[in-house]
Amino acid sequence: MLRTHTCGELNKDCIGKEVTLCGWVDSRRDHGKLIFIDLRDRYGKTQIVFLPKPKELNEQAKRLRSETVVKIVGEVNERPKGTVNENISTGYVELLAKEIEILNQSEELPFAIEDDVEAGEEVRLTHRYLDLRRKIMKDKIIMRHNFNQAFRSFLNGVGFLEIETPYLSKSTPEGARDYLVPSRLNPNKFYALPQSPQILKQLLMVSGFDKYYQIVRCFRDEDLRKDRQPEFTQLDLEMSFIEQEDIFRLMEEMIAKSFKDVLGVELKTPFPRMLHSEAKEKYNSDKPDIREDGNPFAFLWVVDFPLFEYNDDNQRWQSCHHPFTCPHPDDLEFLEKGELEKVRSCSYDLVFNGEEIGSGSIRIHSTELQSKIFQTLGISEKEAQEKFGFLLRAFKYGAPPHGGIALGLDRLYTIVSGSASIREVIAFPKTQKGICPLSEAPSTVSANQLKELFLDLVEKEET
Ligand code: AMO
Repeated sequence: MLRTHTCGELNKDCIGKEVTLCGWVDSRRDHGKLIFIDLRDRYGKTQIVFLPKPKELNEQAKRLRSETVVKIVGEVNERPKGTVNENISTGYVELLAKEIEILNQSEELPFAIEDDVEAGEEVRLTHRYLDLRRKIMKDKIIMRHNFNQAFRSFLNGVGFLEIETPYLSKSTPEGARDYLVPSRLNPNKFYALPQSPQILKQLLMVSGFDKYYQIVRCFRDEDLRKDRQPEFTQLDLEMSFIEQEDIFRLMEEMIAKSFKDVLGVELKTPFPRMLHSEAKEKYNSDKPDIREDGNPFAFLWVVDFPLFEYNDDNQRWQSCHHPFTCPHPDDLEFLEKGELEKVRSCSYDLVFNGEEIGSGSIRIHSTELQSKIFQTLGISEKEAQEKFGFLLRAFKYGAPPHGGIALGLDRLYTIVSGSASIREVIAFPKTQKGICPLSEAPSTVSANQLKELFLDLVEKEET
C-alpha cells in the first residue's frame, strides 16, 4: 500500500501519529511562507501544512498545481483554535508535511473540480473522468452503489437468486427497436441485445427458480429524452406461485428498507393504489404526481391497465405492456367477443413523483391463452413460432403461474438525487443523440471488419 490512511479518515484520535496520504491537490493557499494544501481522494479532504522550513520541501509545495497526484508523509496535528472546520470529518486535524513525492503531474484542466461547474455538458462528458472527481457527481455514483447493494441484500435475504441472462440474444417485444449484433460465425444472422430479460426470466420460472432477480443492462434503440438512455439498468425480478399483491408487498418492503438504510428516509407503506381508468380521468395521465406540499417522495401503484391499445399509425391493436401479460380474469369474455378496448390486464406500474419507474404484470402461463393473444395482435402462427416458439414450447412442460416487475434504476436514482437528467446518475452516459463524447462511440469500422461480418454499407441519403 502506498498510503496508511485515506484523506477522509484522520481525526482527533490520530493526533501525534505519523501517516502517509495519497491523493490529488485540490487547492493550494500560500500564507506568506506557510503553505496549505487540501489533499483530496474519494473519501474526503485533508489539510496539509508546509512550514517555511525545511526550505526545499516548502519550495516543492509552492510549485504544486491543482490535480497533481502526490504522496505525503507527515504528522497529524490538532488544528489551532479558530481554524477548525466543523463541516468535514477531518476538520479538527491537519497534517504537518515531512516528505512529499510527486506521483504524477496534471495538465491544466478544461474545468475546475467544483460542484458549481461552469462547463457545458458536452465538455463534462468528454472529460467524464474529471467530472466524476467533483463531489456532487461522486456522491451520486456512491448513492447508486449503496442502493444497488441494499436491493441485493434485501432480495438475497428473502430467498432470491441473482441469475445472469445473455446479452447476445434474440429480439424481445418491449416496443422499441433492437440493437443488432452481426454474427461472424453465422453469416447474415444477427443477435439482438435484450430490451429486457423478459422471456428469459419467464423461462427461469419454468426451470423452477421461483425467485429470480438481476441488476441488468437493457438496450433500446428509441428516440432519447431526458429520462431515457439507449442502455439503461433494470432491477428485474420474477416469482412463481404468486399474485399481484405479493409483488406489491415485496417491492414496498424492499424500497422502504433501502430508503431507510441508504438515505435515512422513512417511507409510508403500503403505497397508495389507483386504477388506471381513475388516473386518466382525474389526472389525464397514467403516471400522476400525487405529491402533497412538503411529502418529497411519493410512490403510487397504477393498476388495471388496459391489455391492448390501438396504434393509429399502424392501424392495429398492440399490447399496452407486452404480449405476455395476463388478461384480467373478469374480462376474458370481452376478449372472446373481440371487444378489445374493454379488456383490462393484470399489469401495474410503479410511479414515483410522477415518473414511471417500474412496470410489471402477472404473466400468461398457458400455451393456448398465449397463442390467442398473439392471434388477437395479428401475429401469425408462423411469426409467433419464429419469434417466440421457444417460449411457447416451454409453456408445454409444466409452466408455473408467475409474475414480476422491473424497476428502471437510472430513473429512480435521478429522482432520488434531484438530478436534472438521467445522465447525471450514470458514470458514462450517452448524449440525446446516442453519442459517447468521451470515447466517440459510435464510430466507423474498418473495411476488413465489415468483410469478416459479410456486411456492406449503404450511404445514407440526404433528406
Ligand atoms: P418496461 O419496458 O416498462 O418493462 O421497463 C421497465 C422500466 O424500465 C425503465 N425504462 C427505461 N429507463 C431508462 N431509459 C430507457 N430507455 C428506459 N426504458 C424503460 C422504466 C420502466 O418503468 N420486461 C418488462 C418488465 C416486466 O414486465 O417485468 C419491462 O421491461 O423505468
